[in-house]
Amino acid sequence: MDDATLPVEAGAAQPRLEAQDKPHHEDRDVPRLEARDISMRFGKVVALENAHMAAHAGEVTCLLGDNGAGKSTLIKVLAGVHPPTEGACLLDGEAVHFLSPREALNRGIATVYQDLAMVPLMSVWRNFFLGSEPTTGRGPFRRIDVGRCREETHTQLTAMGIELRDPDQPVGSLSGGERQAVAIARALHFGARVLILDEPTAALGLRQSERVLEHVRHAADRGVAVVFVTHTPHHAHPVGDRFVVLRRGRVVANEPREALPVEKLAALMSGE
Ligand SMILES: Nc1ncnc2c1ncn2[C@@H]1O[C@H](COP(=O)(O)OP(=O)(O)OP(=O)(O)O)[C@@H](O)[C@H]1O
Ligand SMILES: [Mg+2]
Repeated sequence: MDDATLPVEAGAAQPRLEAQDKPHHEDRDVPRLEARDISMRFGKVVALENAHMAAHAGEVTCLLGDNGAGKSTLIKVLAGVHPPTEGACLLDGEAVHFLSPREALNRGIATVYQDLAMVPLMSVWRNFFLGSEPTTGRGPFRRIDVGRCREETHTQLTAMGIELRDPDQPVGSLSGGERQAVAIARALHFGARVLILDEPTAALGLRQSERVLEHVRHAADRGVAVVFVTHTPHHAHPVGDRFVVLRRGRVVANEPREALPVEKLAALMSGE
């Protein structure tokens, strides 16, 4: 459909995230999101053991580790996918017990997984809004405001320095880096206060990785607490304010950038 309006799907409306520009009493020392002494077991598999990390507003916290170190498990605990076996998550210093990713999202914790949860055949703007489209009209005449959707998608992407040929083009025609950018722009548009990115640069070439790293930095510069998961120290180092290194489910380092040159970061990951 290429009309100015589209019918609204049943149950499509989603609450907007808590707006980041809302005045917020924030103590800079209190992490926006914190995982405290998290242990996670899947049957006999110990994925995390007493893991601790904190993400502060306006900072990029990098979570590093080799394959199977427990990175995705830790962010899934933070994002409400897994209730931890032990330990607690704190949002703005208060304990939270998310029972689903939706609950975490409603509190401003947006997570972009590697597979991105986008619909390849749908346009960029539909993927951008995915169920939270602005509407016009009332009752049975309520329709998705396609013009506004296109315009807002364009505005948000342009603000991040992304020039798409056409917001109507299907997401499947975008490069991996552009898709990551759309996902990040979407989270910012909906007011994410915490943005968790699981290996956003893993499948990308050099140029595209650099672009995505710029978007990561951009999100933090807008006051978002960013958690950037990667197993590439050279991707983490230029954008990270703090580095948390996991090895076999345990945190083996938690240091600010000044304390960790990139070579040391790589050595910590491999345990050499
Ligand atoms: N749902 C699950 N059920 C059983 N074991 C799991 C589950 N999820 C993770 N694990 C195990 O927990 C450990 C940590 O996995 P996790 O996916 O967190 O690692 P990772 O650091 O993200 O690795 P990668 O870099 O490969 O993505 C692995 O041994 C994995 O097999
Ligand atoms: Mg992973």
